[in-house]
Amino acid sequence: MSKFWKPGTERPRSSLIDDEEGGVLFVSASASSSGFGYSTLERQRQRLPVFKYRTAILYLVENHATTIIVGETGSGKTTQIPQFLKEAGWAEGGRNIACTQPRRLAVQSVSARVAEEMGVKLGEEVGYTIRFEDVTNSGVTMIKFLTDGVLLREMMDDPLLTKYSVIMVDEAHERSISTDILLGLLKKIQRRRPELRLIISSATIEARSMSNFFHDRKRNQGDAANDSAPSTVPAILSVEGKGFTVEIYYLEEPCSSYLQAAVDTVLSIHDKEPVGDILVFLTGQDDIDAAVQLINENALDHRSHSSGLLVLPLYSGLSRSDQDLIFAPTPKGKRKVVISTNIAETSLTLDGVVYVVDSGFSKQRFYNPITDIENLVVAPISKASARQRAGRAGRVRPGKCFRLYTEEYFMKEMSAEAIPEMQRSNLVGSVIQLKSLGIDNILGFDWPASPPPESMVRALEVLYSLGVLDEDAKLTSPTGFQVAEIPLDPMISKMILSANTYECTEEIITIAAVLSMQSIWVSARGVQKEFDEAKLRFAAAEGDHVTYLNVYKGFIQSGKSSQWCYKNYINYHAMKKVVDIREQLSKLLKRFGMSLKSCERDTQKLRKAIVAGFFANSCHLEAYSQNGMYKTIRHSQEVFIHPSSVLFRVNPKWVIYHSLVSTDKHYMRNVMAIDPDWLTEAAPHFYQRKRPNLSAPF
Ligand code: CDP
Ligand code: MG
Repeated sequence: MSKFWKPGTERPRSSLIDDEEGGVLFVSASASSSGFGYSTLERQRQRLPVFKYRTAILYLVENHATTIIVGETGSGKTTQIPQFLKEAGWAEGGRNIACTQPRRLAVQSVSARVAEEMGVKLGEEVGYTIRFEDVTNSGVTMIKFLTDGVLLREMMDDPLLTKYSVIMVDEAHERSISTDILLGLLKKIQRRRPELRLIISSATIEARSMSNFFHDRKRNQGDAANDSAPSTVPAILSVEGKGFTVEIYYLEEPCSSYLQAAVDTVLSIHDKEPVGDILVFLTGQDDIDAAVQLINENALDHRSHSSGLLVLPLYSGLSRSDQDLIFAPTPKGKRKVVISTNIAETSLTLDGVVYVVDSGFSKQRFYNPITDIENLVVAPISKASARQRAGRAGRVRPGKCFRLYTEEYFMKEMSAEAIPEMQRSNLVGSVIQLKSLGIDNILGFDWPASPPPESMVRALEVLYSLGVLDEDAKLTSPTGFQVAEIPLDPMISKMILSANTYECTEEIITIAAVLSMQSIWVSARGVQKEFDEAKLRFAAAEGDHVTYLNVYKGFIQSGKSSQWCYKNYINYHAMKKVVDIREQLSKLLKRFGMSLKSCERDTQKLRKAIVAGFFANSCHLEAYSQNGMYKTIRHSQEVFIHPSSVLFRVNPKWVIYHSLVSTDKHYMRNVMAIDPDWLTEAAPHFYQRKRPNLSAPF
């Protein structure tokens, strides 16, 4: 390639589990069972590495309460194992097979694939459930894909998850917060339901520590008399991948913009390298949309060399038809370029990828219990992630991975493994979930990785000030139980419940629905002026929340028109989802015996309801600040209004925000102007810093 690239010195190895420093990119470029054509889905199934392990997997699941399966991404774990189980009779007698994923998009995509392979309609024998979307048919569905978060919610109604015979916790290496809680709870359930089978599957995992976690030595002795019970010693199976060698290239010098470097690298690969699709790892919708546009613009400018590129974004929140494009075979004469978040790192496999471009970054959640600030940060990935990303280039034949960083950086700066989400998150949502499942001794809970005690204390504090927990750290009735039942962040749930008091539920559920979307705007790149003008048509002096109400009103008045959305730079797909979520929230409120009420034009009422949920996120404009700097009330953190907010440059004196994102600075997203008196009105305890009874046995 160009003079900027330097081949890496890593040598391929063949072991997946004991991946030591410096080694990588495994691969026995194995004797794949060639001779099969590409024609039918059945043949494709048979060529997947897990196919050879079918009997072994079924044997282990039959005889062990827990089976840990490690296999390279793309080896067929997610799509095949649930089918093997179904074929072996695990879904008979009204029982179901569950397979969890940390990501919603993965749930939708793999379930669609499995339904297709089985020749059934999605939502019948094979279905899926994600938050606010249930595509299953009870009594008919045998294999159900769902997010780990949704399975946790199911435990509120069915604590022992009795309808499942096998639960496969997939992508366990991601160590999402819900996966970790789920693992802790499943271990408890196993004691009560010895017949339940667990499969823990992942691309890379410290299989030993997971095995130790599930090895219940006490129970084993008790079961010795019972021959028919499965062994409580977990089984470990490693599925040999059939990835091909991947050559790694590094930048000779660090680059100043990974976005520009990624675009240049794609164009350069297209120019110089033989056919094969390109997978680019960036961080989120913003930089992905930007890269798609830059590559396309370039393709127009240099018709001769950049034509033939089919550039597609991949991030959560994509519509079904956009998802389908990602998996559709590349049209003849074209080269597909998929620009993705780290969802394509292990959750989804794209066949046909030969080149990977790795920015070295991803969006990660970080939480600081001292300041009680959680934000999404564009942060360096770990070595383990970098290796996974590179591995995506070796699916169909030997490939190349271009890392947009130097080899020295990889060797010396990148951490070996990512930190489990549990240890870098705000635990408010997790604590309330455990409380609602009757786990009172949260500090004594058996976690696969313990969360920091400070985070736990913070969570208890916030829940106490929200009125969700009482002095003894027990859920309050009805507020605590209702907040737990609403499948949203507890602060949003509290805001919704307060709207009942302030008589503005009609408006608040719209706001809650919009806040649960990533964004309702489409990318403004290249059309900033037109975009700003469009936004101005909806902008409200109160801030983003009230602006969203105006957008929603306009959308409904337009007859939910996609044309209207297009004209106003609004994401039609997101708005349809908002209507849908709103509908479900309204049903939930009815169940609580609350009717929908509108505050009409009295925005003060609804702003007070928002403050009742978000008082902890309040900020004050620094008196002499020239550049719009705010400080958070509780910890004097410096924060700024995000340029996407309608209050950007307006800078009201007092604001509350919904979330923070950090790049060079901490930016507040979704900002609303408030009267500071509302803070003490909403949360006198919080602002007087009175603590809940921390000596209580929570
Ligand atoms: O879970 P694991 O990474 O081991 O593999 P998988 O997701 O079961 O993928 C097995 C095969 O199914 C791969 O070749 C994927 O490309 C294919 N697949 C697909 O074509 N469409 C999907 N929506 C999901 C998987
Ligand atoms: Mg998988």
